[in-house]
Amino acid sequence: MVLPQEIIAKKCAGQTLSEIDIGLFVDGLMSSNFNDAQVGAMAMAIFLQGLNKQETVYLTNAMMKSGKVLSWGKVKNTDGLLLNGPILDKHSTGGVGDKVSFMLAAIIAACGGYVPMISGRGLGHTGGTADKLESIAGFNVQPKLEQFQRIVADLGMAIISQTPELAPADRRLYAIRDVTATVASIPLITASILSKKLAAGLDVLVMDIKVGNGALMTELDQARALAKNITTVANNAGVNTQAIITDMNQVLGNTAGNALEINETVKYLTGKLREPRLHKVVVSLAKAMLINSQLAADEKSAFFQIDRALASGKAAEIFAKMISALGGPNDLLEKPWRSMNKAEVIIDVLAPCHGYINTMNTRDIGLSVVSLGGGRTSNDQIIDHSVGFDCILPIGTKVNKGDVLARVHASSKLNAELASQQYIKALVFSDVSVPEAKVIYRF
Ligand code: URA
Repeated sequence: MVLPQEIIAKKCAGQTLSEIDIGLFVDGLMSSNFNDAQVGAMAMAIFLQGLNKQETVYLTNAMMKSGKVLSWGKVKNTDGLLLNGPILDKHSTGGVGDKVSFMLAAIIAACGGYVPMISGRGLGHTGGTADKLESIAGFNVQPKLEQFQRIVADLGMAIISQTPELAPADRRLYAIRDVTATVASIPLITASILSKKLAAGLDVLVMDIKVGNGALMTELDQARALAKNITTVANNAGVNTQAIITDMNQVLGNTAGNALEINETVKYLTGKLREPRLHKVVVSLAKAMLINSQLAADEKSAFFQIDRALASGKAAEIFAKMISALGGPNDLLEKPWRSMNKAEVIIDVLAPCHGYINTMNTRDIGLSVVSLGGGRTSNDQIIDHSVGFDCILPIGTKVNKGDVLARVHASSKLNAELASQQYIKALVFSDVSVPEAKVIYRF
């Protein structure tokens, strides 16, 4: 019997772990054979010494197999028909104002794909897709897996939160990494994300690797290394995977906060407002998903299909049906605020000077949403979905003193004023114009 401390010592000394060592660690995560201190020590050993490709594959596979692995071959829709398209998904490494999953899944479903999206909660300063969906009264992010699969078969998409049945070993490891400063490790992030994605039984995956001051990876070379690691491991595991590196040096879209982001999604899907940077990210990810799954033969066909999915209203209709199939209202698109709470207090954030918005400390804006109550500072905290920022002006905008930079939505006047001050502090203004900020980086 190999003791946990022997496996930890091996990694601490920079040695390579065998498949058996890693299997014992993952079994230990499930059975508590590794106690919390030992899991933390192991996470730190990996954080400091790294894992090679083969070890990362072993960890990914063992964590994937710690729970159910979905298969789609025998899943039928309500009419008794088997799926007639590819199973595909995207995963983002997280950011502020990142509501891409909603529009993207709906577009892909409208183009004939099936998107079983298992999303995360907010983490640190970043928002979580599952939290955003819970802004909607009645929406159930934890349906039974059979119901989830049936909705995907009927509509082409469903978005839920991670369930205890899928990659449970990652749930425990992730919770311990979160409090032991071991999140930002490329092999651990790779295994964590891919164990969940591979458990969903995908044919095609597109990774949105965020880079910038609001992302997990703040530097481009780190983002590229993560992108390379994830694509190598996932492609080796048989899932056609591409990574796209996108900018997170400013809030994506013009809202940050749970219900506000759902409202922006509704505006996007119904064509009322499509913030250009957000649209660019949605289109590049959608294009990659359509081409890699052979739903589109080339870029031209992919653009045509994306455009048609939005212009015809089909993507919006699928999203609305998914909301009601999972317990939400039937009229989210028509009356979003009928089923979401509005904040008590809304105030304008006013520009303190003339000039151009030069930089935005995106992480601090995300933390400000958390301080307003829109994210968690402890695991079991109940969040206030109504709070956050909207009408956010992008980097490069020219403003005069007193112009509205954004609006704060808060539960009290005091909180609103504090958040307004934090928002102003997060911006740097310049006298000269700013070159157009990049949205997609070359990988
Ligand atoms: N998202 C995950 O699911 N896991 C990580 O480790 C980081 C981001």
